[in-house]
Amino acid sequence: MKITSAEFVMSNSNVAKCPNEPLPEYAFIGRSNVGKSSLINMLMDQKHLAKTSGRPGKTQLINHFKINKNWFLVDLPGYGYARVSKKDKKVFQKYIREYFQKRKQLVCGFVLVDIRHEPQSVDMEFMEWLGTNAIPFAIVFTKADKLKPGAIDTYVSNYLKKLLEGVWEEAPPYFITSSSKHMGKDGVLGYIDSINKE
Ligand code: GTP
Ligand code: MG
Repeated sequence: MKITSAEFVMSNSNVAKCPNEPLPEYAFIGRSNVGKSSLINMLMDQKHLAKTSGRPGKTQLINHFKINKNWFLVDLPGYGYARVSKKDKKVFQKYIREYFQKRKQLVCGFVLVDIRHEPQSVDMEFMEWLGTNAIPFAIVFTKADKLKPGAIDTYVSNYLKKLLEGVWEEAPPYFITSSSKHMGKDGVLGYIDSINKE
């Protein structure tokens, strides 16, 4: 898919106030600092469309971007670890949950997983929760530049194996990416394009 336009539309913490347009929507979610905002910038070929930071907890709202005037891309705050107060963390979790449960336009969630870390229970639990709520998702492994190519394959097959030991009978679609090396862009955008054309 060629990106012809990518515009920031709005930020908010209330799913009821998200854009009132019936366009297909794709949301990027995962632990704080996993690289959600960086991935969005890489996909859109822009450096500063979504705000990034080395400090976890940078994205704190539901951010809508309109792409090619016909779909929305959504940057979400991280779940799990964040350098914010316990109270704020609960608020994030509630509106993230509400976003996934109530947003009718949502077509697919992309759950980002840092390829350097062992499978984390917070990610596994979040994917299980998506499954329970019948919300389609794909996995995006991030920061693949941090591993050697051979180690990437081993990591991914172990990760999928672990996933299939849990509640899953079938592995979800997955993508291996590196925002710093511009890797995995065509896979993710091609997947979105194929769903948009269905
Ligand atoms: P929150 O908004 O805080 O939840 O974080 P986020 O998931 O949006 O992460 P963000 O994109 O802000 O990136 C976090 C840190 O990881 C930044 O220091 C990025 O430069 C770094 N980073 C993101 N993607 C990559 C990548 O592909 N490779 C490497 N090496 N670093 C990355
Ligand atoms: Mg972010």
